[in-house]
Amino acid sequence: MTSPHSPSSPSVPSDPSDPAERRPVVIVGAGPAGLTVGALLRAASVDCVVLETESRQFVETRPRAGVIEEWAVRELDRRGLAANLLEHAQAHTECEFRFGGERYRFPYTRLTDQHHYFYPQPLLVTDLVREYTEVRGGDIRFGVRDVRLHDLDSDRPSVSYLCPRTDQRRWIHCAFVAGCDGARGVTRDALPPERVRIARHDYGIAWLALLAEAPPSCDCVVFGVHPRGFAGHMARSPEVTRYYLQCPPGDDPENWPHERVWTELRERLGAAGAPPLTEGRLIEKRVLDMHEYVVETPATGRLYLAGDAAHLTAPIAAKGLNLALHDAFLLGDALVAHLTRGDSTGLAGYTEASLRRVWDYQEFSRWLSDIYHGASSGDPYLAGTTLARLRRLFTQPAAALAFAEQYLGSAAAF
Ligand code: APR
Repeated sequence: MTSPHSPSSPSVPSDPSDPAERRPVVIVGAGPAGLTVGALLRAASVDCVVLETESRQFVETRPRAGVIEEWAVRELDRRGLAANLLEHAQAHTECEFRFGGERYRFPYTRLTDQHHYFYPQPLLVTDLVREYTEVRGGDIRFGVRDVRLHDLDSDRPSVSYLCPRTDQRRWIHCAFVAGCDGARGVTRDALPPERVRIARHDYGIAWLALLAEAPPSCDCVVFGVHPRGFAGHMARSPEVTRYYLQCPPGDDPENWPHERVWTELRERLGAAGAPPLTEGRLIEKRVLDMHEYVVETPATGRLYLAGDAAHLTAPIAAKGLNLALHDAFLLGDALVAHLTRGDSTGLAGYTEASLRRVWDYQEFSRWLSDIYHGASSGDPYLAGTTLARLRRLFTQPAAALAFAEQYLGSAAAF
């Protein structure tokens, strides 16, 4: 008897005549988390299949994150997954804060000897798809529909989906399911409601995320802390720059015409001696409401969640991709150890090891949010204390080092 776990699927009877496949692991989702787990499994000759709702072209071009911490690059490299990244990524060494009409450089590499790497997520996904399929012989099925999970509490779980070519439901029996289907996937909803615990935090603010057809206006990432709201500047390429503007949650991008955007950016990023912003056509305008969640029970029965499926971090501290990779290293290694050597230590410790870094990064994100948004909170007490916190980074070496380590993720032991 099958017990389907999907909010939208009260029951999908198994068809006994269906020649169901068997694979040790089914991975749901071909983002950085799922593809990395798949690549680690294939490197150990563990058979698996990746199910992805979108097309290959879509996942390889979807604009997403891009900041990768040095420890994560080293771990990718150690697993043979960083050749292109190391050749093409930009290594960032410092950032700039602007507040009170002044600019302050923060040389984090000088303090920690570590870098941030900037490598757009679509390029990383392209590398991982190629490595998983063409180099390591992995099976990936794009364009599947209506993925459902079954019998997760038994030792014979299965995953079913609608095949895009035949419209027929296909079944795969497996030993483990890796839920790597991001924030809007289905695997998180398959956790048994009586056992799932999810911690949530809503910042009550939003950022207008902008892409401008304009060269960067500074040689590093810039954070503007201003009474009118936070503003950010990040180079994407020699021709394209990402900007952020704090705005009310639920704001409509249509409220932000070209002139208003550039006036506000100039105001919030203005500082003595700063080069003028190079204006350009706005090719993307999206409002991102800042909220976060942590699934405190990311492993249950035979299902293990990883990446955004298990926890969401607002883009405040650029941690999402790094956490997804951290989970994938832990889960991939743990599944390999269990399936090839019968060693279950990694699986038993997965939740604790994942959550330790997740909570550390969540705390930093919250701390940084106060700094970015305190000045515009409308609360003079918060504005004063968060400005003091910001100044401390440029006056107290111990505070600067602590910040640099959190910013680079080097404080949390891998
Ligand atoms: N079935 C199969 N695949 C699914 C389903 C589903 N029901 N729902 C979503 N997916 C796919 C998505 O299309 C996507 O390709 O799962 C993949 C999840 O990938 P990501 O969202 O990139 O999540 P993850 O691998 O955890 O990486 C997190 O992605 O969005 C960024 O900022 C985020 O950098 C972080 C990283």
